[in-house]
Amino acid sequence: MSVLNKSLLKALDGQRQSTPPIWLMRQAGRYLPEYRAVREKAGGFLDLCFNPKLAAEVTLQPIRRFGFDAAILFSDILIVPLALGRKVEFKEGDGPRLDPMEDSSALRSLSEKVDGKVFESIYQTVREVKSNLDDKTVLIGFCGAPWTVATYMVAGRGTPDQAPAKDFAKRDPKSFAQLIDRLVDASVGYLSGQIDAGADVVQIFDTWAGSLSPEDFERWCVEPTRKIVGALRGKHPGVKIIGFPRGAGERALRYVERTGVNAVSVGTEIDRTFAREKIQKHVAIQGNLDPEILRAGGDALDREIDTVLAAFSNGPFIFNLGHGILPDTPIANVERMVKRVRGA
Ligand code: CP3
Repeated sequence: MSVLNKSLLKALDGQRQSTPPIWLMRQAGRYLPEYRAVREKAGGFLDLCFNPKLAAEVTLQPIRRFGFDAAILFSDILIVPLALGRKVEFKEGDGPRLDPMEDSSALRSLSEKVDGKVFESIYQTVREVKSNLDDKTVLIGFCGAPWTVATYMVAGRGTPDQAPAKDFAKRDPKSFAQLIDRLVDASVGYLSGQIDAGADVVQIFDTWAGSLSPEDFERWCVEPTRKIVGALRGKHPGVKIIGFPRGAGERALRYVERTGVNAVSVGTEIDRTFAREKIQKHVAIQGNLDPEILRAGGDALDREIDTVLAAFSNGPFIFNLGHGILPDTPIANVERMVKRVRGA
């Protein structure tokens, strides 16, 4: 398939397009009745992630329904801790639960090598999606950034302020750095495997980047991401990589300059003029419609879409949300948005 008629790849190559490509973070999920049906059939959330046929099916559902320009692999960022031998569970309606890592002894309990069987199942999903995807639609693979994954591994769950991971890093920076290094290595292998299996692009989700101090942002967000990008490019020259340092605000510029990503996904906190004038001249911007406005719909949604388009359409741009779609978002609002972005 030639790259040239894949609109999202053109944007990642720095080309401006009259109609920007569009996809949504968390586009496969509970707001879709067809997702809820498959999810029920699969059993638990992880059962769905480890069932390549069904995981491929839910990956493709939003493409069939909305014709997005990209499909994102259906999986989760916590597959990597699982492959490193940590216990991971998803409690119904209650988010992820892991065995917390209280000190460096927990670090020694990580498997020396990643469990290849865990990753292989996900690669099978990638192959399955790829063989069922039309040739205009890009397939995005992903992983969590080391910092964000570490926040879940240390606390054993999601936290509002990432305090347990921050405390660990302050108390024992050497051990925390080792944990981050293990995650860098595992993530490089994992993303590389996804690319080999057919992912066209990969995205690195650093959901909790925004709560880091300037020094820690450098150390725990920028540096590990820079290493992942460098190692991936060594194995797959020219591979396109999107970074999502959520909540980074103007630090997204530094992130782009240091890490070498091809695009930065920006949250709703960013000053759009800053993003356009300072960042978009280096790389493509992805974002940044407010998920709550998408849920609200109506005129407010139309105005916000127009504002986002006006801000970023004069340069390389991928239309998306500032964060994942909310589970109670009406489908009609998504349809309305796609139409408006495409000028229909
Ligand atoms: O974007 C997509 O459609 C692809 C699949 C995807 C999921 N999780 C599926 C999922 C992706 C890219 C992720 C990434 C992810 N997972 C992140 C980073 C992105 C972000 O949103 O900030 C994080 C922090 C996680 C960890 C995670 N997974 C949490 C905290 C939760 C519980 C919260 C929730 O929404 O229920 C999950 C579960 C999860 N991952 C669901 C989905 C569709 C919901 C599971 C279900 O009940 O069916």
